Formats: sequence, structure tokens, C-alpha cells
Amino acid sequence: MASAMSMKASPVHPPKITTVKALVESTGSSSIPSFYNFTPYLRDEPIAGDAEDPVPIIDISLLVSGTPEQQSQTIHQLSKACSDWGCFLVINHDVTESLTKAMIASFQEFFDLPEEEKKEYQGNHVMDPIRCGTGFNPSMDKANYWRDFLKCFAHPEFHTPNKPAGFSEIALEFSKRNREVVTVLLKAISKSLGLEESYINKAANFELGLQLLAANYYPACPEPEKAIGIPAHYDHGLLTTLVNNGVSGLQVKHKEKWFNVNIPANVLFVQVADHLEILSNGKYKSIAHRALVNNKATRMSIALAHGPALDTVMMPAPELVGNESDQPAYVEMTYREFLELQQTGRLSSKFRSDTEQSKAV
Ligand code: OGA
Ligand code: NI
Repeated sequence: MASAMSMKASPVHPPKITTVKALVESTGSSSIPSFYNFTPYLRDEPIAGDAEDPVPIIDISLLVSGTPEQQSQTIHQLSKACSDWGCFLVINHDVTESLTKAMIASFQEFFDLPEEEKKEYQGNHVMDPIRCGTGFNPSMDKANYWRDFLKCFAHPEFHTPNKPAGFSEIALEFSKRNREVVTVLLKAISKSLGLEESYINKAANFELGLQLLAANYYPACPEPEKAIGIPAHYDHGLLTTLVNNGVSGLQVKHKEKWFNVNIPANVLFVQVADHLEILSNGKYKSIAHRALVNNKATRMSIALAHGPALDTVMMPAPELVGNESDQPAYVEMTYREFLELQQTGRLSSKFRSDTEQSKAV
């Protein structure tokens, strides 16, 4: 029986490559294998150039040490940024340029490890604290994405690979500094919603919040217009902070158009993610975004998803619902349940009361 089974013609599978990096380095080809082809998907969408209406900029130093007037102005800007865009750039924060550079260099060293060594970290489940791989969600995807990744849980427990040397220390410092930025932002965002400063921190049990450190590695691609780094999706935490290596590729969907986002060195890009949408009962919506690739340079980005505690039940803040026009628009569930449902692809019907299009991780 077993041998008869193995004689059957097998469906066309991608060759057994473990990373896009290895594929690019081994073939040096001028075209991409067809299972990386996303062209029809890209053509669907209008592409806008840089925004004439630029991504909002928030000076976080004014929230920390500004006059009461500067603080309330900044909270107002933050409220507009979250409701009009769902993303913003943060300046004057404490994630120093040298720390970001060191973090990117360390991730580069990780991706440069021999494929065999990286395999040790190949987790399969969304709850594995360290996961390295390629594509996006291997159990569900029909095609591959032009992207390798390493994801580690950084909080409440800190996990990282034990190589390359120094990686762990830099990753810990980088994660902590980003978390401090988010702590300040969540206080200001709570106030912008008319809630007390510590509201989100308490409602999400942020002291035990899950923080996921994710590095994306997008090798230069010989046919960038056919491939996609990460297709359109929403992030699942409360807020995501993101930096890159100076090579652009991130786009956000704003007013039904895709906008390129350039993230200068020393600036953090911040996105509203699903759990802030849930908590604010849709006042602040998570933003759709995607990553394109190019044929000139490898792009690296580092995203930190800052989420609620895994076992805290998340729901719209009761203070923001109540009257007829403001019914709770999201069902209650824990962050863990949300992540697990998302993995099975059954989230959309549970996440929203209406039938909005499904969301990928
Ligand atoms: C992500 C993501 C975008 C980028 O990791 O969730 O959206 O620019 N990354 O790499
Ligand atoms: Ni994302």
C-alpha cells in the first residue's frame, strides 16, 4: 500500500527550499519560480505615489515632557492620526538610531547563518516562542511570499535564538525601548478616547502583554512586479512599531489607495492594530498594509507587535458603547483565541459582527 501511494503522481510542489535567501543565492536566475507569482493580485489595486496628504508625525517628547497645552495638542493629533489614517510616524523617541542599526545588523547575521543552523528554530505553531521560516502562513497559503522571517516572543517572557553572538542582548534592549514608546502612546490614546490614562493598560493587562519581535528579510527579486513580500493584512496586537534598513517597500491603504511609506532612520512607524480597533469599538481602525519587493537591494524590516495579555478577554470599552448607534461591533474573546482562530482562517465571521473581508495574519 505504502509503495503504491508513493508511486502516485504528486501535485506540483515548490522545490524544498527553506528560505527565499537560499533560493536567490543558489539560482541567481533572472526570473522567479511561478509559485511566487502574485501579479493578478497586485493589478487589482490602484497604486498611489507618495501621499500629498502625508502620514501624520507625532512628537512623543511633547507627550512626555511638554507643557499641558503641548500635551493636549499632541493627544489631539494622535486622535486624528488614529482615526483618519490608522498609522503615524513617531519622532524624538528613545529607540536610538545606533540601537536600531545594531538590531538590523544582528538580524542580518542571523539570516546569514547556514540554512542548517536556522532550521533549528523552525517552529510550526503561532504559539511557538521562536519561529523562523519563509512565506507567511505555510499551512494556508496557496503561493509563497518573497520573504523570510524570524519571530520571537519578547514579553512577558523573552525568547531569542542564542546566536549570533550579542543578538539576545540587543534584541532585549530594542524590545524594551519600543515597549516604553508604546506605553506612552497607549496612555495618550486612552485619553484621546475620553478614557482615563491607564485605561488600555488595565483593560489589556498590558503588564503581561504579549510582545512579538518579527524581522522580515526580503531579498532583491529579479521580477519585483510579479512577487509580493507580504500581501495586504492587518496586525493583530494593539499597536505595531516598525523600522527598516532604509530600503522602502511598505505600503498602507488609505482612502482606498495604496501609499508608499518611507521610514527615515531614527523614526518609528506605528500602526493601529486589531485589538485597539476592538477596544475603541471601531473608532480607531487597524490599517491594511503590505510589503512590496524590489530588484536592487535586500530590504529588512523589524516589526514589534505589542498586544494584550494572552488570556485577557478583549472587548469594546463599555464606556464607548451604550447608545443605539454605538452597539458593540466586536465579539469578546481572548487574544490567544483570536490568534488561534486567525490561524485557522475562520476569524472574519467571529471578529466583526458584520461580514468584512477576511484578514490574514
Ligand atoms: C509585518 C509587516 C511590513 C514590512 O511584519 O506584519 O507588515 O514593511 N511588515 O516589512
Ligand atoms: Ni503587518
